[in-house]
Amino acid sequence: MTPLHPEASNFAVPIDRMFDAMLALCGAVAVGVFVVMIWFCVKYRRGSPANREGRQSQNLAVELSWTIIPFLLFCGIFGWSINLWTMLRTPPADAVPIYVIAKQWMWKVQHTNGRREIDNLHVPLGKPVRLIMTSQDVIHSFYVPAFRVKQDVVPGRYTALWFTATRLGDYPLLCSEYCGTNHAAMIGTVEVVTPAAYQKWLNASTAIPPAEQGRHLFVQFGCSGCHDPHSGIHAPDLHGLYGRQVTLSDGSTVTANDRYLHDSIVLPAIQVVQGYAPIMPVYQSRIDEEDILSLIAYIKSLPPQSEASPTGGAHEQH
Ligand code: CUA
Repeated sequence: MTPLHPEASNFAVPIDRMFDAMLALCGAVAVGVFVVMIWFCVKYRRGSPANREGRQSQNLAVELSWTIIPFLLFCGIFGWSINLWTMLRTPPADAVPIYVIAKQWMWKVQHTNGRREIDNLHVPLGKPVRLIMTSQDVIHSFYVPAFRVKQDVVPGRYTALWFTATRLGDYPLLCSEYCGTNHAAMIGTVEVVTPAAYQKWLNASTAIPPAEQGRHLFVQFGCSGCHDPHSGIHAPDLHGLYGRQVTLSDGSTVTANDRYLHDSIVLPAIQVVQGYAPIMPVYQSRIDEEDILSLIAYIKSLPPQSEASPTGGAHEQH
């Protein structure tokens, strides 16, 4: 079947084949029902000489086949879709991370080296790309029909989406969740370019790397006033924090991942680190999602402080 949209990602062909198969199956059942219906309408029309004696009460072979055949068909579709779903939810380890922030009514994108774009997304051909997405305001939905991928973008959490673009060209990027007046205008373009062109495009930017942006914000928002290891105020040291287990005041432990760092910045009172007072100010609505991403990139970049160097070197990183 010829698709209306180009098949431009690794998911496009398997999803289209699945859609075709389900359409064919439903179509075959619908045709079967209508053929029998029309046949009976003609055969048993008023005045026709058809046999109208009572129907046969039981036919085991027919009953078993209409139970077992659909059961096996549904099991097959279940296995097929689970397999496809698992593939959709499992990005390869080497996927290029790209951050996407949705807001009324635009798509803001930040690449690994800090290069930003709006309502536009450059991706390299043939390389897996993993989008880490969040929203500044309401729920949006990231949708690229040509790639057959769609994912809700939700305020207060990170959602992910991955794909490998398989065709060069420009493809529409849509918002598929009603998000206010200009929802219909929240349209962008995904530009699939060769890996060399993508690298060249990245390098053409004078953008400051996210961790570096975060380092400035860390001072600007006053974080360094308390979180600096040399600060007089008792706040957790953030060196080597990323990926570590953190014990909270209620005795539970959490992994310091992106989500934890994000929530600890916007609503610090929810998860207070054991041994510390809940004195950190709330940054919700005082700091936007892009700046939070930069701060997280900065915190990720802080190496574990070695016990061998009590002062000096490490201090300069702030
Ligand atoms: Cu954003 Cu609809």
